[in-house]
Amino acid sequence: MSQLDTSFAIKVKNLSFAWGKDRSILQSCSLNIPQGEFWMLLGTNGSGKSTLLKLLAGLIQPQSGEVEISQPLGFVFQNPDHQLVMPSVGADVAFGLVDEKLPLPQIRQRVKEALEAVNLAHLVRRPIYALSGGQKQRVAIAGAIARRCEVLLLDEPTALLDPDSQLDLVAQVRALVKSRGLTALWVTHRLDELDYCDGAILLQKGEVVEQGNPQLLRQRFTKLEA
Ligand SMILES: Nc1ncnc2c1ncn2[C@@H]1O[C@H](COP(=O)(O)OP(=O)(O)OP(=O)(O)O)[C@@H](O)[C@H]1O
Ligand SMILES: [Mg+2]
Repeated sequence: MSQLDTSFAIKVKNLSFAWGKDRSILQSCSLNIPQGEFWMLLGTNGSGKSTLLKLLAGLIQPQSGEVEISQPLGFVFQNPDHQLVMPSVGADVAFGLVDEKLPLPQIRQRVKEALEAVNLAHLVRRPIYALSGGQKQRVAIAGAIARRCEVLLLDEPTALLDPDSQLDLVAQVRALVKSRGLTALWVTHRLDELDYCDGAILLQKGEVVEQGNPQLLRQRFTKLEA
C-alpha cells in the first residue's frame, strides 16, 4: 500500500482474494475513486463488499493485485458496538489519538473539533451506552476526523438504523466529504442512499460489473435483485 500523488484517493488494480485455496471471493477487481468524492459500493449478500473494504484498509492481504490508498484512513463498522471501546464519547474519540502522543490541550482541541463536525459536541461527556445507533456511528466517524483521516471506509453504517437516522447519517457524511475534502467509500444495500453519492460501484460474485453513474447502476442493481 502506498501514498497516491494522482487525483485518485483509492486505486485498485486486478485485485484477487481467496479464503484458502478453493474459496475465491474477489476476481481481478479494478476501480478508481477520485479524491474529494463520496462513492458507494453495492452488491447482493455475499458478493464480497466487506472483503473488498477490508483489503482496502489493509486488514487482510490480497493474493494478487495492487491497492493504493491515501492515508490516514478510517474504518466505520456496521455495528458501532464492535468499534467504540471507551466508556464516554470524548474518551472514545481521544482514544484513537493515543499513538500520536499529542499534548493534552491539542487532544482536547482535536476531540472538540471532530465532535463539532458531526454535531455531537454537546454529548462529549455522555456514556456510550446512552447514545442512539446513529449517534454511535457519528462518534465512530468523529474518531476518524480527529485522526485527520483522508479516506473513510464505511461498511453498511446504516444497517442498524431506522429510516430517519439512516438518511441523516448519509447526508452528514456527504456534507463532511464536501466540506473537508475527504474521500469516502460507503457500502450499502439501500438504493435510496444512492441519491447522495457522486459515483458507485457494483460488485457481483466478486467482480466489479459496473462503476460510475449512480443512477445507471441503480437500474442494473434493480434488475439483479429482481
Ligand atoms: N473469514 C472468512 N472465512 C471464510 N469465508 C469468508 C470469511 N468472511 C467472509 N467469507 C465469505 O466470503 C464471501 C463474501 O463475504 P463478504 O462478507 O465480503 O460479502 P458481503 O458482500 O459483504 O455480504 P453482506 O451483504 O452479507 O455483508 C461470502 O461467501 C462469505 O461467506
Ligand atoms: Mg458485508
